[in-house]
Amino acid sequence: MQAGQALAKNDKNQGVRDVIPARCITIRLPDPSWRTVVNQTPVKAMDPERIPELPVTRMNSTHHDEVALVNRIARCLGEAGAPCDELDSLLTEWVTHTEAHFGRENRWMQTYGFPAYPIHAGEHERVLGHLRDLCARWRDSGDTSELVRFVNEEWPRWFEQHLAGMDTVTAQFLAQAGGPDLE
Ligand SMILES: [Fe+2]
Ligand SMILES: [Fe+2]
Repeated sequence: MQAGQALAKNDKNQGVRDVIPARCITIRLPDPSWRTVVNQTPVKAMDPERIPELPVTRMNSTHHDEVALVNRIARCLGEAGAPCDELDSLLTEWVTHTEAHFGRENRWMQTYGFPAYPIHAGEHERVLGHLRDLCARWRDSGDTSELVRFVNEEWPRWFEQHLAGMDTVTAQFLAQAGGPDLE
């Protein structure tokens, strides 16, 4: 028997490999640690008492709803072993709520001709983009550290400043212009 014939006889998969080229298929199995939130840092979010009262009722109710929602996210992030499914749906709700919140203010500013519309709307766009990125990164990595930092520090600071600055000026303008509380 020739050497080549012996090799072909012993290699049972030779024919299959001739037809289907060898290829590496990576199947990403769910990491069990992703099924629950793993976080050692306490998460506190924001005290609703710090929300300023603006002269547009609908803006105030939106701001209170958002703080309540972010506080639920904070509780979920701070709770050892909270289900990731719960965090996932709360984050989806946060993005949807923020889209509606910012979209409504943008629409009112345009309708009533608010002069600083591009600055205020640009800030909305930047923060919404950042929130979407954070959620996407958590979904991709399962690492909550960026979200914890955002909910604990960056978002409450930004939200308070935004309400005290751009939202206050906008609400005063809208109220003088006849107000969007008609909607
Ligand atoms: Fe607002
Ligand atoms: Fe705003």
